[in-house]
Amino acid sequence: MARVLNHIILGAFPERRKVTITVDGVPMEAFEGEMIAAALWAHGKKDLRYTKKHNHPRGIYCGIGRCTDCVMIVDGIPNVRTCKTPVKDGMVIETQKGLGEWKGGTGHEES
Ligand code: FES
Repeated sequence: MARVLNHIILGAFPERRKVTITVDGVPMEAFEGEMIAAALWAHGKKDLRYTKKHNHPRGIYCGIGRCTDCVMIVDGIPNVRTCKTPVKDGMVIETQKGLGEWKGGTGHEES
C-alpha cells in the first residue's frame, strides 16, 4: 500500500487495526477508521464512480464531503461520500454507475 507515513504537518501515521474490505468483489486490506477513499487511493483505485449522462469517471475532488464526486455504493447504500466515511471491517464497496442502485443495508450505516 502507498501511504504518507510521516506527514510534515499531521505527523506520523497512527497505529490502526488492519481490516479487510471488499471492493468490486475483490478483497482489499485497509486500516480501520481511515476514510474509504484514502484506502482505495492507497491501492491505486481512483475511479470511484461514473457519471449518469456521459459515463465519465470521477474520483476524489474536494476531499471534504462537499462535491459528491467520490460517492460509491457502500454496504448496498448508494451515494455514500467515501472521502468522509470511515472504513469498517467487512465493508462491501462498489464503484457507482450513475445514480446507483439501493441494495439495502447490512448494519454499517449510521443510525
Ligand atoms: S471528494 Fe468531494 S465529497 Fe468526497
